[in-house]
Amino acid sequence: MKRLVILSGAGMSAESGIRTFRDMNGLWEEYDVMEVASIEAWHKNPELLLRFYNDRRKQMILSQPNKGHLLLAELEHDFDVRIITQNVDNLHERAGSTHVLHLHGELTKARSTKEPSLIYTLIDPEMKIGDLCGKGSQLRPHIVWFGEEVPEMENAIKLVQSADILCIIGTSLNVYPAAGLMNYTRTAVPVFLIDPNPPVHLPRHVVVIPEKAGIGVALLIKKLKDVAQ
Ligand code: APR
Repeated sequence: MKRLVILSGAGMSAESGIRTFRDMNGLWEEYDVMEVASIEAWHKNPELLLRFYNDRRKQMILSQPNKGHLLLAELEHDFDVRIITQNVDNLHERAGSTHVLHLHGELTKARSTKEPSLIYTLIDPEMKIGDLCGKGSQLRPHIVWFGEEVPEMENAIKLVQSADILCIIGTSLNVYPAAGLMNYTRTAVPVFLIDPNPPVHLPRHVVVIPEKAGIGVALLIKKLKDVAQ
């Protein structure tokens, strides 16, 4: 089976009702992204960040995977599909995808502020000050914030290097190191990009499908039939 690697971003979940980061004049659910998604913000106002991510978690629980997520899960019948997502929601998994790497963390998890290897799956969607890890330190959302390392980057690079086909869906390719992942494909690997507002500076070999994720993945499947033969 050919290996199809997907790199998804916020646009993937837009049709599930989860707002993207850069579509609304840089405001994300009425917040400046930097005020709620940086390590400095956590040090300055941890209550605000816990509240913000509690809201995102509750919104995620009420959201459903969209047609794009569902079609990608179905593609596992015909391709060895590996998803690298910048999204912290669990909509790929809930659609049925079985290989999902979360580059920027997961809303469903918390981790220790002192011992990063202590990661817990949340049962209660509400995190608060005073929730402690097994060693007695405050728990924080398991999210990669601006100013932090991206621990899964090595694994993501390996996946892109192993791709027979790469498809990028719904990301502005503004945030590094994720945006640089497309440069790790082997020579002559077909690269598709699905986005109704595609980034302007793309390498010439990238085949753009200028559609939303739902329609875009359906069109991709048609194109993949040609590539797979
Ligand atoms: N289908 C596909 N793409 C869409 C849709 C849709 N229905 N709606 C919007 N888009 C596209 C936009 O045109 C834009 O190019 O999705 C992209 C979203 O870009 P961003 O909001 O910048 O999101 P993303 O690239 O995922 O952000 C990367 O930045 O804030 C950090 O860590 C956060 O993971 C995030 C990272």
